[in-house]
Amino acid sequence: MLSFKNTASHHRLLSAMRREPVDATPIWIMRQAGRYLPEYRATRERAGSFMTLCQTPALACEVTLQPLARYPLDAAIIFSDILTIPDAMGLGLSFIEGQGPVFAHPVQTAAAISALTVPDPAQLAYVYDAIRLVQHELNDRVPLIGFAGSPWTLAAYMIEGKSQSGFPLLLKMKNEDPQLLHQLLQLLADAVSSHLRSQIEAGVQAVQLFDTWGGILSTPDFEIFSLHYLQYIVKQLKGTVPIILFTKGGCRWLSQIAQTGCDVVAVDWEISLKAAADMVGSQVALQGNMHPATLLQSPELIYQETARILENYGKPTGHIFNLGHGITPDVPPEHVAALVDAVHTISAKRMKEEGVA
Ligand code: CP3
Repeated sequence: MLSFKNTASHHRLLSAMRREPVDATPIWIMRQAGRYLPEYRATRERAGSFMTLCQTPALACEVTLQPLARYPLDAAIIFSDILTIPDAMGLGLSFIEGQGPVFAHPVQTAAAISALTVPDPAQLAYVYDAIRLVQHELNDRVPLIGFAGSPWTLAAYMIEGKSQSGFPLLLKMKNEDPQLLHQLLQLLADAVSSHLRSQIEAGVQAVQLFDTWGGILSTPDFEIFSLHYLQYIVKQLKGTVPIILFTKGGCRWLSQIAQTGCDVVAVDWEISLKAAADMVGSQVALQGNMHPATLLQSPELIYQETARILENYGKPTGHIFNLGHGITPDVPPEHVAALVDAVHTISAKRMKEEGVA
């Protein structure tokens, strides 16, 4: 039986996810613990490698909390990576400077795929241990978000073996042996469901699924190869904690994504939040959608763009402010302070004026 923490209603993030009144719009940032922070780079250096950082709960806890020590963010996200699942399946993950993730044993044949199994939760225990440490340190200050990659996005890296523009081997398998690809995607859907369930048991209060590469598909293929498995995972987890779905490049499909039964649809910058709200209806909240490059501009321009996005959304709740994709390593940390302050100040003023706070 799945047990989870009773999610306190006073957290802005969770209230906004339920589309209940909030005193200000909540904000968190994808990749908020990352290389733009000098303290992250120092801990990463101390760990020696990215994987050691992920697999040492005390260090993963330390970097999870670093952005919270600097900024009044409304959520923490557990420091980990979507590729820990394929690593636990035995693919041998390493991160090579300047090249990103590389698998020693990519899966490209029926024999390699048939040999895979759902990892035992013990193999990912370092993630659940880190979650328990973070929850102890946070002491209910803000909610903690857990996450996983979508089956389609995990399959992309597992088949290709690395970040490869256009993912040619993945698309070849989709076209030449779709049944084999479905065998892998279903196994991943079960592995992701199990990993998220264990994160929830360890204490995360919401989860996000990152479908980073869903946007490379055609509409019929998105439904068959990505959305179908997102929906399966949502069904497995329904009734536990709120679920955020993020398909990068997926603005064409926001209404189908909202119909999976998820609680929040995360949006990149390709569409306005107003147009997104028209597509998803009133059953879900929206998350997003500032262009990450905005954070390279001056604090004045960051303030103006924040005001524009909040104005464009235009409703008192149901919005979680975020970027449309992860923060980049070249962002000056003080620009993040300007963003968090702008979101809270502008939205709180507006809610007071409208008498909703
Ligand atoms: O958001 C957070 O603060 C939590 C941590 C987090 C990381 N990766 C840490 C990380 C999260 C949520 C992720 C998700 C992730 N990982 C995704 C989906 C989101 C997205 O950005 O599209 C993907 C595709 C990955 C796989 C991955 N991990 C790649 C392609 C890379 C290399 C590219 C890069 O940005 O360097 C990583 C490495 C990685 N994961 C870093 C961090 C902070 C940087 C590596 C380092 O510190 O050396």
